[in-house]
Amino acid sequence: MTQNMSFLRKFFLYKCLFALTFWNYANLSVEDELFTSVSNNFPENGSNKKIKSLPPLYGKSPQCKAGSDWVVIQNTTESLSLSEITNCNVKKLVAFLSNFRQGSRLQNLTLTNVSVNWNYLMEIFQTVWHSSIEYFNTNNVTQLSDIKSYNFNYSGTSMKALTMKKTIITDLYFVQDDLYKIFADMNIANMTIADSEMIHMICPSSKSRFRYLNFLKNDLTDLLFQKCENLLQLETLILKKNKFESLRKVSSMTSYMKSLKYLDMSNNLLRHDGAEVQCQWAESLTELDLSSNQLADAVFECLPANVKKLSLANNQISNVPRGMVELKSLEELNLASNRLADLPGCSGFTSLQFLNIEMNSILTPSADFFQSCPRVRELQAGHNPFKCSCELQAFIRLERQSGGKLFGWPAAYECEYPESLRGTQLKDFHLSLLACNTTLMLVTALLLTLVLVATVAFLCIYLDVPWYMRMTWQWTQTKRRAWHSPRVDQGNVLQFHAFISYSERDSLWVKNELIPNLEKGEGCIKLCQHERNFIPGKSIVENIIDCIEKSYKSIFVLSPNFVQSEWCHYELYFAHHKLFSENSNSLILILLEPIPAHLIPARYHKLKALMAKRTYLEWPKERSKHALFWANLRAAISINLLKADENLYEETD
Ligand SMILES: *[C@@H]1O[C@H](CO)[C@@H](O)[C@H](O)[C@H]1NC(C)=O
Ligand SMILES: *[C@@H]1O[C@H](CO)[C@@H](O)[C@H](O)[C@H]1NC(C)=O
Ligand SMILES: *[C@@H]1O[C@H](CO)[C@@H](O)[C@H](O)[C@H]1NC(C)=O
Ligand SMILES: *[C@@H]1O[C@H](CO)[C@@H](O)[C@H](O)[C@H]1NC(C)=O
Ligand SMILES: *[C@@H]1O[C@H](CO)[C@@H](O)[C@H](O)[C@H]1NC(C)=O
Ligand SMILES: *[C@@H]1O[C@H](CO)[C@@H](O)[C@H](O)[C@H]1NC(C)=O
Ligand SMILES: *[C@@H]1O[C@H](CO)[C@@H](O)[C@H](O)[C@H]1NC(C)=O
Repeated sequence: MTQNMSFLRKFFLYKCLFALTFWNYANLSVEDELFTSVSNNFPENGSNKKIKSLPPLYGKSPQCKAGSDWVVIQNTTESLSLSEITNCNVKKLVAFLSNFRQGSRLQNLTLTNVSVNWNYLMEIFQTVWHSSIEYFNTNNVTQLSDIKSYNFNYSGTSMKALTMKKTIITDLYFVQDDLYKIFADMNIANMTIADSEMIHMICPSSKSRFRYLNFLKNDLTDLLFQKCENLLQLETLILKKNKFESLRKVSSMTSYMKSLKYLDMSNNLLRHDGAEVQCQWAESLTELDLSSNQLADAVFECLPANVKKLSLANNQISNVPRGMVELKSLEELNLASNRLADLPGCSGFTSLQFLNIEMNSILTPSADFFQSCPRVRELQAGHNPFKCSCELQAFIRLERQSGGKLFGWPAAYECEYPESLRGTQLKDFHLSLLACNTTLMLVTALLLTLVLVATVAFLCIYLDVPWYMRMTWQWTQTKRRAWHSPRVDQGNVLQFHAFISYSERDSLWVKNELIPNLEKGEGCIKLCQHERNFIPGKSIVENIIDCIEKSYKSIFVLSPNFVQSEWCHYELYFAHHKLFSENSNSLILILLEPIPAHLIPARYHKLKALMAKRTYLEWPKERSKHALFWANLRAAISINLLKADENLYEETD
């Protein structure tokens, strides 16, 4: 294939060239060629026109100073390293190098800062080619000009590896083959042309011995080695940092390279949009680096079937489609710095051993990863924006269960959300089992409720807490009322604090318990007892009523006995005196013994109402409660005691 392509350099030079061509080579239609070059779009069938190179812009042989010599950087029997090779000393160098015929001991030659024209460079190469040198390196070959066809004699060489770094061509316009053919047809094992702004390389014209090609950091495009059937021994191809765009074209490039094992396509502009024709990869390809490209999920439709080690780091993958890909040999997968939201399953990658998924967008990784990927020995999942919540607990447990399979644990695993936990290592993030397990939480709540109910029941049954509470409540209510109740105009007939009424059968209790307790206590409570303070000549009822009217309060000691024998005495009084209305403060009921409802005769509405309202003080059987009972009772009586006392004293004065 003849390709008359221009090997062009910087853009301002193109413009410069326009001007030059316009008046120097006006008859040549250079413009078209130029534009196609600028857009990196090379016609496969370039025109067969031979375009002469321009006169060199740079590198015109300067006046050679006498004694301008190279600089020796290293000079041993096996290895020689020289610098500052110019058009002035190059003839001397060629003569010097031709001393090292095949069989001599010099193996390595390195030339740095070489500034010679094309023909001299080729003379150096040709001399080295037929010498004993096995490793030939050039670095910083500048001002390479005057490129034209050179008849290189490829026969019989000791050379194993050629490495050219920073080869800068100042020639603007030349026949592409003249340059590329020299290198493409070198039948050596290793060749590196790096950092040289190279835009193309042609296919070797016969079966090549290249096993290792490294074109790192150039400007190569999808047109490289298309349908090139002469790279059958090539095992390693490095095209890192070039301008490749189509993953499919890259795959078809490899399809002729029957020995290709390792391909580095990292740092290109690769895309793949799925809908295209099927990809065709070399079957031998086992290691592929596609990192730092522009690949999205569709890349999984275009991968070499036998790949063992694959890097897709730093692309735009957001999902590993399940079921679509089957890479049975894949052992190592690098998906770092993509946009994945979860760990991929291993359904398509049954041999996977290493997975790197750092720096993606995984909030809560699914915890069934190691079940789905039993062969994985190492999972590198750090530097993701983990959301520290209950769901993440499962993943943290996974760490413990997996036995050190999480690479970078614990330093690389930190909470990102919620904000309050940002920066906390997952290792230190604990939520109680309870908070995360709903069933457990419900059971616990239920148990707690049961315990509470049991405690309350126990308190009620064995300690009679409700009674204490009721008494305390009544006591506080009474105190409150005492504080707030308005001055009640009782007239000036009051002589007693309280009138006390009870059944004859309960008199023992009244005399032994009630009276002593009330009268002897502080406050000097005066009680009116209808027996004790009996006025002769009046009926019992009259006496009672008299007693009631002279007393500030009325205490009734209620019991079944009282209800059956005495209540009727008061019915009449209740009927006539609104004083004992339900709201009255004057009425104090003491329930000495419970009164079964059926014992209360149906006509005693008032009593029933009072009983129903439970506005009575209950006499507790337990001794321990007596103190509180008396306090309560005394408080109930002591309402407005001062005012009552005033009245009492007025009366006695
Ligand atoms: C390339 O050139 C050959 C012969 O010159 C011609 O037959 C073929 O059609 C050309 N291909 C393209 C793509 O121009
Ligand atoms: C390297 O050293 C040898 C002597 O050790 C000398 O003869 C030879 O000229 C030197 N080579 C260069 C390129 O200076
Ligand atoms: C020659 O170069 C090769 C490759 O760079 C290196 O491995 C080897 O050690 C060198 N030999 C000597 C004698 O410097
Ligand atoms: C490359 O070599 C030229 C001279 O040959 C020199 O001027 C230039 O500074 C060198 N560049 C580097 C990076 O060494
Ligand atoms: C190449 O040239 C540059 C600039 O002149 C100089 O700094 C550098 O040391 C040279 N390299 C060698 C290996 O001599
Ligand atoms: C090529 O080089 C070899 C070895 O130096 C020599 O024998 C042969 O004659 C050369 N061929 C031509 C055409 O110069
Ligand atoms: C060619 O390069 C490969 C990879 O760097 C290396 O393993 C091999 O030893 C090299 N071969 C020679 C002959 O330098």
